[in-house]
This record gives sequence, C-alpha cells and structure tokens, in this order.
Amino acid sequence: MIETDSSKFIQLEDFFDAPKNDLIIEIGFGNGSTLIESASNNPEKNFIGIEVYDSGFGQCLNDIEKQKINNIRLIYDDAVDVLQNTIKKKTLSEVNIYFPDPWPKKRHHKRRLINNNFLVLLSQTMKDKGIINISTDWEDYADQIETVFFNNKRFYAIDSDPRTQKTKFENRGLSLGHKIFNYSYQLN
Ligand SMILES: C[S@@+](CC[C@H](N)C(=O)[O-])C[C@H]1O[C@@H](n2cnc3c(N)ncnc32)[C@H](O)[C@@H]1O
Repeated sequence: MIETDSSKFIQLEDFFDAPKNDLIIEIGFGNGSTLIESASNNPEKNFIGIEVYDSGFGQCLNDIEKQKINNIRLIYDDAVDVLQNTIKKKTLSEVNIYFPDPWPKKRHHKRRLINNNFLVLLSQTMKDKGIINISTDWEDYADQIETVFFNNKRFYAIDSDPRTQKTKFENRGLSLGHKIFNYSYQLN
C-alpha cells in the first residue's frame, strides 16, 4: 500500500521492482478482480489501484497476498486528490475506470467522476498517447462520457479491447437488463 500525502508528489515508479515498466491505474477497483486479472496477465506492466471502499480494498489486498502478485500497489484515497496532488505529470500509460458510481438522479449528476475537470487532470498525468478505458451500464452516463470527451478535444476515440472478465457491477447491470457501454480514448 502506498501512503499518500496531499502536500507531496510521489515518484510512483519507485514503489515497483521494475520502475521503468508502463504504469497503469485502475480507479474505483471495487473488490479488485479486474485489477488482479490485468496485473496477472501483464507481468511486464506496473499497476496501481485507487479505491475508497474499505471492504473491497481489504479483499483486494488479501487476494494480492494470497496470489503473490508483485506488480500491484494500492492507494486508499480519493482518486481526484491523488491525480491532483500525488501523481507527477506525464506518468501514466493507461487509466481504467470500470463502472464508476452512476449517480442516477439528475440532481446528483454533478457528482459523477467523469467530467471535464477530471479529463483535464487525466490529460496532465497521462503520457502522450496514453489510453483511458471506461465502462458503464448507465445509458445517460454513457451519453455524458461521449459528450465530455468530444468537448475536451485532447482525446480521440479508439476501439476498446474486450475485457476477459466481468466486474461485480457489470454483472449487476446485466442482471438488471442494462446494456454495457465500453469506451477507449487515446491522448493526442
Ligand atoms: C460502482 S463501483 C464499481 C466497482 C468495480 N469497478 C466494479 O465494476 O465492480 C464504483 C467504485 O468506485 C469507487 N470510487 C468512487 N469514487 C471514487 C474516488 N473519487 N476515488 C476512488 N474510488 C472511488 C467506489 O468506492 C466504488 O467502489
């Protein structure tokens, strides 16, 4: 686990055995199943998970230890604060956000993670040509994602690589009859 301090940027690479490898973050990893699968399948990359949900965080830590995975580090903190105050500019090769909290009520839409301020932060912390993958099962959040990326202009849409494992919230959405929207964007 990486301890963050909101007054200091951290050289995240230094926490890994192979600091030169590509650095990928997953924001809101839930119970960590996709994070662990991605890290196991890509031992040549370094992964950081950011989450604020205690029980999911604990489960992921246990699974990392049980499965002896050595290319994941976890940060228990608000991802927006981490992007703003901890991660140095042009550090990240890839950012994954699977099923961000949908905040379905219209008056709560402003709490949604994916908005223009967030994209500005991402574009600063990502390397040139870095990729962001986002999935949601909420159609009006999908519309919002398309709109904010279109208006931002720093990213362009690319084909999404299919995920091999469904997340807990993806299965929940499917059981409710929701369609799954997968997006990938690349930084100019
Ligand atoms: C709907 S859940 C999805 C979890 C998992 N990705 C999945 O698909 O099963 C959204 C997760 O994002 C986390 N989250 C929301 N806002 C966050 C933030 N600002 N920083 C870090 N995690 C956040 C929540 O705690 C929650 O676990």
